[in-house]
Amino acid sequence: MRRLFPPATELLESDALDDEALEQAYSDEPADFVRINFVASADGASSLDGRAGGLGSATDQQVLRLLRDRSDGILVGAGTARAEGYRPLRDDPVRSAARMARGLARVAPMILVSQRLSVEPSDPIIARAVARTVIVTCANSDPERREALAAVTPLIVAGEQTVDLAAARTALAGRGLRRLVCEGGPTLFGTALAAGIVDELCLTISPMLTGPGAGRIIDGHLEIDPVRLRLRHLLEEDGYFFLRYSLDRPRPR
Ligand SMILES: NC(=O)c1ccc[n+]([C@@H]2O[C@H](COP(=O)([O-])OP(=O)(O)OC[C@H]3O[C@@H](n4cnc5c(N)ncnc54)[C@H](OP(=O)(O)O)[C@@H]3O)[C@@H](O)[C@H]2O)c1
Repeated sequence: MRRLFPPATELLESDALDDEALEQAYSDEPADFVRINFVASADGASSLDGRAGGLGSATDQQVLRLLRDRSDGILVGAGTARAEGYRPLRDDPVRSAARMARGLARVAPMILVSQRLSVEPSDPIIARAVARTVIVTCANSDPERREALAAVTPLIVAGEQTVDLAAARTALAGRGLRRLVCEGGPTLFGTALAAGIVDELCLTISPMLTGPGAGRIIDGHLEIDPVRLRLRHLLEEDGYFFLRYSLDRPRPR
């Protein structure tokens, strides 16, 4: 892994990054923070055969784990949880100790965003959770499903027809979940961006062309004003680019 930007001469003695330096490259985030993490192909696809995994690399997975380990919670849309077979994080002694040294809880909970609430209380993402999964839904979700889920796991209602991500963020902060990494998917990224809650985008560009068909990293029907990104760093390994961008939080529409 090497750092292409900022140039080594401005910041560091060497542009080669070991694991510690890689973590350092993401380590200056404030305590109240929403970071989006995505991988895309060089032609802009956000999935390959319906999943993100085929686009990434071992180091992309390392960055994903690193960002999880620096967060209070992992925000994910129900579509991604279904497509990718999301499971709650386990209590890994080494990772938990590192988290606690940073003042974080032993294990980061999943935070699942859904209007339809098709997840069941017995699904692993809820039943197997060490840190209880938080469900975030809206007022027009099915009251019976809501009740059944709220009986077994924390549940937040934010917004009416769809989840209001700004209200959800405030409610999550009230539960001590302030530093969030959002792993998508594209619909959730769109709503989060439109709600003006996104502070940072970590984007891996995969050295791959996948052709037409797959969607981009933002989807949905919301109107979103173009957002100017500020490049914080550009890392490279085996042709994969790891970009870290800041967003000036736009005002919500
Ligand atoms: N390249 C990457 O890094 C990456 C990352 C993540 C996902 N993906 C890919 O993206 C695809 C899935 O895309 P997607 O857009 O369906 O993912 P998604 O955003 O995770 O899921 C959409 C679903 O999430 C819920 N949701 C999101 N925002 C909501 C809101 N504001 N209010 C209420 N519910 C909300 C709804 O769930 P309900 O239907 O339950 O109401 C909605 O149908 C998969 O192929 C996955 O592999 C790629």
